[in-house]
Amino acid sequence: KAGAEAVLSPKTVEKALSAIESSKRLAAYTAVDHYVKPEHRVIGIGSGSTVPYVVERIVQQGVEANKDRVFIPTVLALSVSGFQSKELIVESRLNLGDVDQYPVIDVTLDGADEVDRSLNCIKGGGACHLREKVLAEAAKTFILVADYRKNVEYLGTNWQPGVPIEVVPFAYAKVLSNLHNSLGSPNASLRMAVKKAGPVVSDNGNFIIDAPFDQEKMKDPYPIMAQIKMLTGVVEVGLFCHMAEAAYFGNQDGTVTIK
Ligand code: 5RP
Repeated sequence: KAGAEAVLSPKTVEKALSAIESSKRLAAYTAVDHYVKPEHRVIGIGSGSTVPYVVERIVQQGVEANKDRVFIPTVLALSVSGFQSKELIVESRLNLGDVDQYPVIDVTLDGADEVDRSLNCIKGGGACHLREKVLAEAAKTFILVADYRKNVEYLGTNWQPGVPIEVVPFAYAKVLSNLHNSLGSPNASLRMAVKKAGPVVSDNGNFIIDAPFDQEKMKDPYPIMAQIKMLTGVVEVGLFCHMAEAAYFGNQDGTVTIK
């Protein structure tokens, strides 16, 4: 009816949610089957809601396969993302390590907010992208796992908030001004906690800015990533360019797209 709001029935919502969850699991299971090999001893575990399926599949490889492995989490303490890779590792009775002890990782698996056709991705929807990038860069092989909504031609197609940028609190207003006035993101804004209880604070005690850019800039995100990173006060940018070796997307029809 004209003017009426579209209301989805609880059953429709539940079906859509379970399709997304199944897609995440499918992507994660397939990526683990392809990339977590018996010879891998040091494994990086990213953050987000897809990564638990990565750990689930690794656990299914059995106690023997995992007894000499060590798992390095991105998120060490209670985090704004609510998905804690450390707890995941501990609860799954896997050996916990730290990137301090293991600065070279065999393979890191992580989620993404969006992945483009060249395997560049946006990460940081959960405000964890600094630690995620450390584990991605420390890894000999970095693999992305996601559901079908994250598989795009160009970044910024479905992911509307923009590029997450971690900034030291002292510099946030200056960085926002740089983004608005010099870098072409007039709608960049400080990420606020739910109910505007104040700014979101990362695991590292920093603020997060979300900066949307027009699609022209996102066609090749490397230059804008480098420009943002050069701003004093920026700790890390949630654009991961030329880092992933492969990305796995679970689809609604039960297939997996591998990029
Ligand atoms: C957190 C991240 C996550 O990996 C990203 O947000 C994807 O999360 P999900 O698997 O829940 O879709 O970058 O900072």
